[in-house]
Amino acid sequence: MTATGSRIDPLTVINRKRRGDRLTDTDITGIVESYLAGDIADYQMAAWLMAVACRGMDPAETSALTQALIGPARLHLGATTFVADKHSTGGVGDKTTLVLAPLLASLGIPVAKMSGRGLGHAGGTIDKLEAIPGLRLPQSPTQFRHALHTVGLAMTGHAADLAPGDQALYRLRDVTGTVESLPLIAASIMSKKIAAGASAVVLDVKTGSGALLHRLEDALGLARMMVAIGQQADLPTRAVVSNMDQPLGRAVGNTLEVAEAIAALKGEPVPDLVPLVLHLGGLLAAHAWPDRHLTDIRANMVAALGDGRALASFRRWVGHHGGDVDLIDHPERLPHAARIETLTASTSGWVSHVDAAVLGSLAQHLGAGRTRLNQTIDHTVGLRLHARVGDRITAGARLVELHLPVACPNLDHITQLALSAFTITEVAVPMPSLIHHTL
Ligand code: URA
Repeated sequence: MTATGSRIDPLTVINRKRRGDRLTDTDITGIVESYLAGDIADYQMAAWLMAVACRGMDPAETSALTQALIGPARLHLGATTFVADKHSTGGVGDKTTLVLAPLLASLGIPVAKMSGRGLGHAGGTIDKLEAIPGLRLPQSPTQFRHALHTVGLAMTGHAADLAPGDQALYRLRDVTGTVESLPLIAASIMSKKIAAGASAVVLDVKTGSGALLHRLEDALGLARMMVAIGQQADLPTRAVVSNMDQPLGRAVGNTLEVAEAIAALKGEPVPDLVPLVLHLGGLLAAHAWPDRHLTDIRANMVAALGDGRALASFRRWVGHHGGDVDLIDHPERLPHAARIETLTASTSGWVSHVDAAVLGSLAQHLGAGRTRLNQTIDHTVGLRLHARVGDRITAGARLVELHLPVACPNLDHITQLALSAFTITEVAVPMPSLIHHTL
């Protein structure tokens, strides 16, 4: 018997999904609750997840799974005003949250957000934030609410009592080949968004070589599913499908990305990063200020990046959590890698492709991400791109800097891998579009 009194036979529910039958709300709630209660073994839950990954779920089943993953607890933000939330499906060099959240807070739009750690070759916001010396993120709902009310900005990692079903299932999916399933991803992300209690959310669904979903039609399908779940749960939800064929901006790796985010907060036009921040921010601000025109909203955001307001908001937030605020004015004092190697182009031409998956997994293997559970990461290592798609370069020009750990025995292999990420052609290529769709 489960917490809501649903009695299910796991084998029947597994078999029905394996055959492609539609599951009832009771089946879905029952299997999740039984698993959390320890009444169903990992291998049975893994079999059910695989059946879902192969057979799919219809919209009603996906909504039922979302509610089951949320469970009974929701975070009460105690806010009387609009609170914004944002989520990315994960990408290489994606430091959007580090710029977007303080930017919106500086305009008087509070942001409350649960973020993740790096997953595979994609970096995670929590790892990036921990690259700021001294910074300690809120551990309890009380600290989270206090940050929201004091500095208008609250970010935390996975809270133990929030969307417990998602935490339990995500761990299992990661090691059973069941991550890349549209209904499982949609329910996982939306359970966290609904549980966290914001007023509106914008989802950045990445597509391309460095994304979870490589095909545009899959990313679009996921975006549609999540918007529909949000609508059903009365959570205003917008979704953007954006390009992740090449890394976002120029920096990949935790400290390097913090430095690049600070540069963007100081008004530097970091390629793709700033346009994406303005696009996502515009959608959230339009929810907060329904009477204002988008052109006016955008102008406000650009002004806040240019006149120091966004940076001041970031400084206040870092200081609130004990981080070294001096580093924001002097990012050159951030801890740096033991060694930097600069790689150059062997031919002249146009950069036609920069493979985000190759560079993301290179940074991960240098130590910027984890290859084993609970591994300690090296915040200082990573890459800095000097060339991006569409750039014209001459032989001998800088392509990429490798920020390396103290011990790097396989440097030749690393160098070859990094160079293999760049394709240089004799003819000019059109600039790839950053935003494919906005829903
Ligand atoms: N991010 C999530 O939170 N869940 C998924 O399933 C995939 C990406």
